Amino acid sequence: MLIKKPAMGWNTWNTFGRDINEQLIKETADFMVNEGYLEAGYDTLVIDDNWQESERVDGRLVADKTRFPNGIKPVADYVHSKGLRFGLYSAVGVRTCCNKPGSFGYEYVDAQDFADWGVDYLKYDLCHFPGSGDRKSAYLTMAMALKATGRDIEYSCAICGESNPEQWMRSIGAHNYRMSGDITDSFGSIKYIAERRMDIPDFTAPGCYSDMDMLVVGMNGVGYAAKGGCTLDEYFVHFALWSFFASPLMIGCDIRKITPECKKILFNKDLIAINQDEECRAPYRERQSRYATIVKDKFTLAKHLSDNKIAFGFFNFADKEVLQASYMTDFGLPSNTSKKLRFRDIKTGETFIVKDAHSVTLAPHSCAIYIAEFVD
Ligand code: GLA
Repeated sequence: MLIKKPAMGWNTWNTFGRDINEQLIKETADFMVNEGYLEAGYDTLVIDDNWQESERVDGRLVADKTRFPNGIKPVADYVHSKGLRFGLYSAVGVRTCCNKPGSFGYEYVDAQDFADWGVDYLKYDLCHFPGSGDRKSAYLTMAMALKATGRDIEYSCAICGESNPEQWMRSIGAHNYRMSGDITDSFGSIKYIAERRMDIPDFTAPGCYSDMDMLVVGMNGVGYAAKGGCTLDEYFVHFALWSFFASPLMIGCDIRKITPECKKILFNKDLIAINQDEECRAPYRERQSRYATIVKDKFTLAKHLSDNKIAFGFFNFADKEVLQASYMTDFGLPSNTSKKLRFRDIKTGETFIVKDAHSVTLAPHSCAIYIAEFVD
């Protein structure tokens, strides 16, 4: 199955952790449709870990009787009735990260149950993996088990903190894979994941996307993965980076309580278009060698888009205001050509011509994003 765009949706974990139930899922499904999330592209609702009972019954996974008293299928049916896709969680080990039964050794049984319940998206995590097992082949086994069901199920592999999954996840059949540990609602975490992602820029392409983890935009310091929260500038930087790197965009906040300012970030049409661009190129990071020292905390990214345009991002990770200046020769536009670019600032709508260089003053933990195209 070819997945042509990074997944977009909502996932329970960042805000609700273990505290999930049928009512939360139904209410969130209603909000996703009534508040325009589905229309903006967020079409997948994923129940993360802790939906299961603590032990299998007759060798099968069963839903927690108090929190999902009707089982998973009616919940999936409800989600589908709203026009959304339904996602569920399991793990490649013998237990999940919440110590519920994992799918190791039960891949074909569980995959068939998931298909029968109407699962469209499986998040498949790594915890409690048996020492004697081989991780790659266990991820491959679930990919095959999903195929064997005949149902199209997007396969999302979380393999938190494991080394170099980007080198083998495509070949085992993943549609997206995590490349870092768990995100928290803090700028330090956003910066850490982005820096790791910038070290492996080219490992993403249609069919198999590198996943920088769920979004924390809108959490504002509330919920399971909360760690102080972020400013609006920091959430904007976070969303812009996830968009430039074509990461899945899985909302992690309580959308029933989101502020209008945070919702505006999640609905930014330019950034969503950058994220979903069908050419799916990772951005190019300007070389830093012309500077006396490598300045890690400020940088410029340029991402080729499929409509002959280029997205530029000027980023400041530093705790102080900086002037970020970039020479266009570092982005393939040397001064010996008369060609020039028109930049459109996606925040202000302002347009201007850039020939040799562009510089912008950036507040701490902020960015400026432009869509550029050649003009005569
Ligand atoms: C891991 C994953 C998280 C979440 C939890 C659930 O930590 O990385 O995204 O799925 O497990 O237990």
